[in-house]
Amino acid sequence: MPAKNKKNPAPKKKAVKRTAPPAKVQPAKAVQSVPPVPPVRAGSTPQLLRGMRDILPSEQKYWRHVYRVVDGIARSYGYERIDTPILEETSLFVRSVGKQSDVVEKELFSFLDRGGENISMRPEGTASLVRAYINHGMFSMPQPVKLFYIGPMFRYERPQAGRFRQHHQFGFEVFGDANPVLDAEVILMPYLFYKELGVKTMIHINSLGCPNCRPSYLNELMAYYRPKRSQLCEDCKRRLTKNPLRLLDCKEPGCVAIREGAPHIVDFLDDECKNHLMRVLEYLDELLVPYVLDPHLVRGLDYYTKTVFEVMLADETQAGQYALGGGGRYDNLVEQLGGRPTPACGFGIGIERAILQMKNQNIDPTDDFKPDIFLAQLGDTARRKAFLLFEELRGVGIKIAATFSKNALKAQLETANRLGAKYTLIIGQKEVLDGTVLIRDMESGMQEIVDYNKAASDMRKKLGLI
Ligand code: HAM
Repeated sequence: MPAKNKKNPAPKKKAVKRTAPPAKVQPAKAVQSVPPVPPVRAGSTPQLLRGMRDILPSEQKYWRHVYRVVDGIARSYGYERIDTPILEETSLFVRSVGKQSDVVEKELFSFLDRGGENISMRPEGTASLVRAYINHGMFSMPQPVKLFYIGPMFRYERPQAGRFRQHHQFGFEVFGDANPVLDAEVILMPYLFYKELGVKTMIHINSLGCPNCRPSYLNELMAYYRPKRSQLCEDCKRRLTKNPLRLLDCKEPGCVAIREGAPHIVDFLDDECKNHLMRVLEYLDELLVPYVLDPHLVRGLDYYTKTVFEVMLADETQAGQYALGGGGRYDNLVEQLGGRPTPACGFGIGIERAILQMKNQNIDPTDDFKPDIFLAQLGDTARRKAFLLFEELRGVGIKIAATFSKNALKAQLETANRLGAKYTLIIGQKEVLDGTVLIRDMESGMQEIVDYNKAASDMRKKLGLI
């Protein structure tokens, strides 16, 4: 039930209590907590769970690149990072994402914890951010409040290309402002993200209206589907009575074909919703964001009002069966979860899917760490001196690398070359005795000898740092 006390919010502590009534709803399937440990077969290696994957070192450059681009966009557009827990009360997702949504009905990782509490691993980030916005009284901060997050999400889906049971998302959410310019901003940002990666995308957009105009559309939708009930899949037969908007979301080929003739919600929007959509589209035109109106786009989560959108590959012949990102406006969700009425909108992007596109299109992110200096050493005493110099150089802000376990100079120079270091500093037996360091310019091959104690300041000069 929404909180009615709009004018005088209760102090923080009370608000927390009021906003989190005990959950009555059961998850789709709650497994018994603390199941007995299965017998362990000696010598067998535990395997990865289905739909889960390791992100190996060779892949990390893609992830670092994604984080860098996300961080740049967040700073430019003024979004602050927030991290919320992976585990939440199951009722949070049931009440926000929707009891009849696939995400809640079929895909939640839910269980009873040791205290008998019904909890779930988050399938998405928006619900947790709304909870955090309410719990921390963010309505008393200057609005809009702009937040972003990055982290793992869990959905018990059938694994296939680009679809995992643990995937990672970054998402941006803006609270406390109903202006359509913010809808345009949360569409622009994922578009810019992909543009910066080098992936061309197309935005699919629709409006789901509001509680004012949606009921008349739903009546029309049910009138269209009812005579076709026998041709629908079992899930859709249920959706027809329980949550008819979800009918448009079904991926079963038979239901997809029937959807073609379904009425369009845009034809039922009231003036305010129509106007809002027009303003969003005007902004997108001005910002040169390519989009298509997709009259049957409803998204898989129940909390949306007005704008909904998905980010697809521009080249549809290449497009997989999935969206590269999606989002929309959810003006009623904060109130629905017990907060003050607060308009909000946002988007989420699947990082694995973004990286898959980079790989498919041979987009190789420039590696972020390119050392200016590689420090090579020969022999045990040299290694000790090299360690000290390494830290001194690193401490004055020089980007430096070394492989202290290697002894052969050839192997060390090869690594220096591979990393693209500008200079290699070499400390061997002779340099230890002389108290010197040999500097090799990796491009020209020129070498010079400098005093060990002056090496740091000499290198800073060479690199233009002083
Ligand atoms: P969503 O469309 O359910 O929206 O998920 C966002 C994105 O996460 C998808 O477009 C896709 O790229 C990725 N994704 C989802 N499921 C998987 C999966 N099983 N494997 C790999 N990637 C996946 C949301 O979650 C909303 N919270 C977005 C939002 C934010 N709406 C408003 N604000």
